[in-house]
Amino acid sequence: MELNLLALCYLFGSISFIVGLKMLSNPASARKGNLFAAAGMTIAILGTIFLYEEDGVKLGNYGWIFGGLILGSVVGTLMAKRVQMTSMPEMVSLFNGMGGACAALISIIEFRHLVKGNPTEAISEIGSFSGLDQTKLLIILLGLIIGAVSFAGSMIAWGKLNGKIKDFSFKGQHIANLLLFAITILLAADIIIARPGETPLFFYLIIFFSVLYGVFFVLPIGGADMPVVISLLNSFTGVAAACGGFLYSNKVMLTGGILVGAAGTLLTILMCKAMNRSLKNVLIGSFGSGANTGQGSAAMVGSYKEISLSDAAVVMGYANKVMIVPGYGLAVAQAQHVCHELEKTLEARGVEVKYAIHPVAGRMPGHMNVLLAEADVSYDKLLEMEVANEEFKTADVVLILGANDVVNPAAKSDPASPIYGMPILEVEEAKHVIVNKRSMKPGYAGIENQLFFQPKTSMLFGDAKKALQDLLTEIRNI
Ligand code: TAP
Repeated sequence: MELNLLALCYLFGSISFIVGLKMLSNPASARKGNLFAAAGMTIAILGTIFLYEEDGVKLGNYGWIFGGLILGSVVGTLMAKRVQMTSMPEMVSLFNGMGGACAALISIIEFRHLVKGNPTEAISEIGSFSGLDQTKLLIILLGLIIGAVSFAGSMIAWGKLNGKIKDFSFKGQHIANLLLFAITILLAADIIIARPGETPLFFYLIIFFSVLYGVFFVLPIGGADMPVVISLLNSFTGVAAACGGFLYSNKVMLTGGILVGAAGTLLTILMCKAMNRSLKNVLIGSFGSGANTGQGSAAMVGSYKEISLSDAAVVMGYANKVMIVPGYGLAVAQAQHVCHELEKTLEARGVEVKYAIHPVAGRMPGHMNVLLAEADVSYDKLLEMEVANEEFKTADVVLILGANDVVNPAAKSDPASPIYGMPILEVEEAKHVIVNKRSMKPGYAGIENQLFFQPKTSMLFGDAKKALQDLLTEIRNI
């Protein structure tokens, strides 16, 4: 009877993950989806703690279990409450690293169980052991390698995103990385195939090489490419957790791990597609290393014109339809609230206002959606790229706020451009284009943007928050 109740808890947990994941695909239901999946996970955890038993023995150790649960929940909640929106990728990376570490620890514990059936003796002895279940050993090693790589890589990604760790690479690093990976796999194969009963020393060497590989795998990757790498590491953690589920025949762990693994992989692929880059290119390429340095940018062609605040206010204040294109600069300036104010002020004058959202605008998946949601911008005003590209034709003004690469026409017209083939927001279709940024410096891809030199484009220089505040005052005065 109890076992059935536990199976029900796991079933509910698994279903809640799937439904929660589905709800995450829409900003309006995302928050509830997250809570729903968390509730399912809580039920699955409590079910395991109180209902699971083996040979009539329950888990016990309640002091340790609840001590860990309470400590983890308090630390996690405080961190999540305090984190700035711009620091979100680094927190995701840190939490993901913890997941990888958990999966690796499960493998270490289960290896000890497998070797001796007595966890206290096995680790101290580097002697022989026999009668191992090789399938179980394979799963243990998979969980160990993937979990350890994910942990080490996520920690480096976290350090790089918060500026504590600098990019580091040396000549031939990719070969060295491949070598490290090959050594790890060979050691694992040796334990499983050649001499499953001989020495646990190799097991500890595998931990060492996996961690080393995780570190060197992430160290050379450019800081702004981190969201793609974090998403990839996220999928690694999911697969490592699924290995744990397989070991314990725990269905909810298996489902959760597979879902995270699959979702992480899909997100990585989607991000690469939206940036028109292969995963290999992200992992070993140098795209973006010239960002904000001017390196790699084509020579400026033609001249650009500036627009004054009062002229911009008139053009927008008397328009029928204004479309706003948010980008990374809007997030940096934290100008989302004043942007929402501008939207409301324009609407009060009878102007229709919409937002055009590029899938990789900003620096993390859904960056602009989250940013604008924080300022209470209504979801139905956010247009996805394909819809927005249809609507630009009917817009009088497009106001670009701190976006650059995602509106660069070179993606369509210049086969030599590093962003050639990347789908872009076709803002030139509108009657007027106003670009707000602080200078003529390039964006993340480090390339010049011909849009700024086109006759229908005007530049409104300045920090996005200050420029929007001033623009708002001007519009209110007309
Ligand atoms: P970017 O191309 O990076 O351009 C941002 C622009 O904002 C810069 O040109 C900068 O110009 C301006 N800016 C910076 N601070 C500002 C401020 N305080 N006020 C006003 N403007 C400011 O951004 P984007 O168009 O959003 O494109 C995103 C890029 O990131 C793409 O290349 C994409 O592939 C890449 N990327 C995205 C992701 C995800 S998942 N979203 C992940 C990795 C990489 P000034 O310096 O002149 O002000």
